Amino acid sequence: MIENQFIMIKPNAIKRGLIGNIIEKYEKKGLKIIALKLIQMKASQARALYKEHENKDFYQSLIDFVLSGPVIVMIVQGPNAVQAVRTLNGATNPLEADGGSIRGQLGLTITKNIVHASDSVENAKKEWKIFFDDQEIINYTLPYENEL
Ligand code: PPS
Repeated sequence: MIENQFIMIKPNAIKRGLIGNIIEKYEKKGLKIIALKLIQMKASQARALYKEHENKDFYQSLIDFVLSGPVIVMIVQGPNAVQAVRTLNGATNPLEADGGSIRGQLGLTITKNIVHASDSVENAKKEWKIFFDDQEIINYTLPYENEL
């Protein structure tokens, strides 16, 4: 099933110069980038993205963190893209993430856990709509799409 997945590269990863390293992993997996931009998130966008956590004790520190510098927001497309990205990212807590995953390789703390990705096809759509207009999503074909 071809799915679209929303990904955010968090401020600490941008500040550490890890953008290329992280995006390369999604590309090498075979996922197609269909939207991508570097933004300074607005507080309203941060609140919308993390609405499900608004009653948790870590909520304010999470909001402050994602507003602490630029982030990359992107949409990737491919077979089973939602689960493929979540597996590549690894567990939420980098200490529990598989050592080969992005969080396992690059993260140390649960707050600054390098990347965010949506947990379902439905939530991916809700989340990318916080950041992208429909016209910003580019439909094109890659030569290797029949090889996945
Ligand atoms: S949980 O445990 O079900 O709430 O976890 P999850 O839905 O996977 O994601 C939690 C997000 O909140 C960020 N965050 C923290 N989680 C747990 N504990 C603490 N102290 C904490 N601080 C921040 C965590 O990085 C997850 O962000 P995303 O962007 O979803 O990875």
